[in-house]
Amino acid sequence: MGRVAELADVSVRTLHHYDEIGLVRPSARTVAGYRAYSAGDVERLREVLAYRRLGFGLREVAELVDDPSIDAVAHLRRLRGLLLDRRDRADAMAAAIDRELEARARGLKVTPQEQLEMLGARLYDAIGGAYTATRRTDPRIATQIWDAIGDAQTVLNVGAGTGSYEPADRDVTAVEPSAVMRGQRPPGSAPCLAAAAESLPFEDQSFDVAMAVSTVHHWRDPIEGLREMRRVARRVVVLTFDTDEPGWQDRFWLTRDYLPEFATVLAGFPSLAAMTDTIGARAEPVLIPWDCSDGLFEAYWRRPEAYLEDHVRRAMSVWTRVGPQAEQRAVRSLSADLDSGRWTERNTTLTDLESADLGLRLLTT
Ligand SMILES: C[S@@+](CC[C@H](N)C(=O)[O-])C[C@H]1O[C@@H](n2cnc3c(N)ncnc32)[C@H](O)[C@@H]1O
Repeated sequence: MGRVAELADVSVRTLHHYDEIGLVRPSARTVAGYRAYSAGDVERLREVLAYRRLGFGLREVAELVDDPSIDAVAHLRRLRGLLLDRRDRADAMAAAIDRELEARARGLKVTPQEQLEMLGARLYDAIGGAYTATRRTDPRIATQIWDAIGDAQTVLNVGAGTGSYEPADRDVTAVEPSAVMRGQRPPGSAPCLAAAAESLPFEDQSFDVAMAVSTVHHWRDPIEGLREMRRVARRVVVLTFDTDEPGWQDRFWLTRDYLPEFATVLAGFPSLAAMTDTIGARAEPVLIPWDCSDGLFEAYWRRPEAYLEDHVRRAMSVWTRVGPQAEQRAVRSLSADLDSGRWTERNTTLTDLESADLGLRLLTT
């Protein structure tokens, strides 16, 4: 017991306690007749200690390790997801601190709400509350996604958010790491697990289709997430963004003329070719209708005044990522150009268009 305690960096007292409450019982015997940990006991102890270090209570840990439907690999996947989740939270918290330091250095007031949001720690835990104001299923984009899903019966929605684009007439399982987003799923929507794309807690080939909409650019490791989707499903449908086309930053007037920082937000994002290769997909353009009802970043390409609205921007993660300085500069500059007529002069061709190709692509296998 002493050796196991030393290796696992816990006290012998803790091991005794786990033994007493039946959480981890040394089931083997040494030659001298003392009780000892078998390989299976060590595996269980490792799971118990890992969940404990992640902050789970003893009772919760007991439920987790006693669940017969979860094997050692599933535990490892779950633990890995929880750890990455913790790291994402730390990253988001550091980013929030940077933003606040920047705001304070510039003499800007930081509201009590903003101060508290920093503790929310993850991007979508920080901004997710604003999501439902403008983000919803656009029927035309939905038709394209649902056509791609075809006759699949079991559907996994990865990075599911509040459930936009989930087909209502299929057996859907959702995966979403942000508690705020999970909490905003409408009553009666598909069951939703707390997990990340990079480590999906499912067996190989568990679903007919895995779908992911407007989420891949948020993943810590998009290629790993796509591989995971391919592993757990027979087909994959992904709505993402093309940065391969030369001059892609100039496709949309907002990034071209007001927010060049958008390119840095997508700096580490894989090429469309790398993503299609990973899952063996073909890519087709997804046009954005001029009156798109899902308030995604590009949605208001023919309604530029919308970007002056705070509640519209708050439901688009790009603005949080570029930081308050770039955001305020872009908004001021757009507002001035709308007032002076300069925006209209520069974008005369847009007014006649019903829909626009701004780089959204549907990858389908
Ligand atoms: C723009 S929202 C899209 C939500 C939904 N798919 C939709 O179309 O409305 C992006 C979502 O990706 C989630 N997300 C962030 N990192 C993720 C990861 N590593 N794995 C899965 N989802 C992630 C966020 O929490 C957020 O809910």
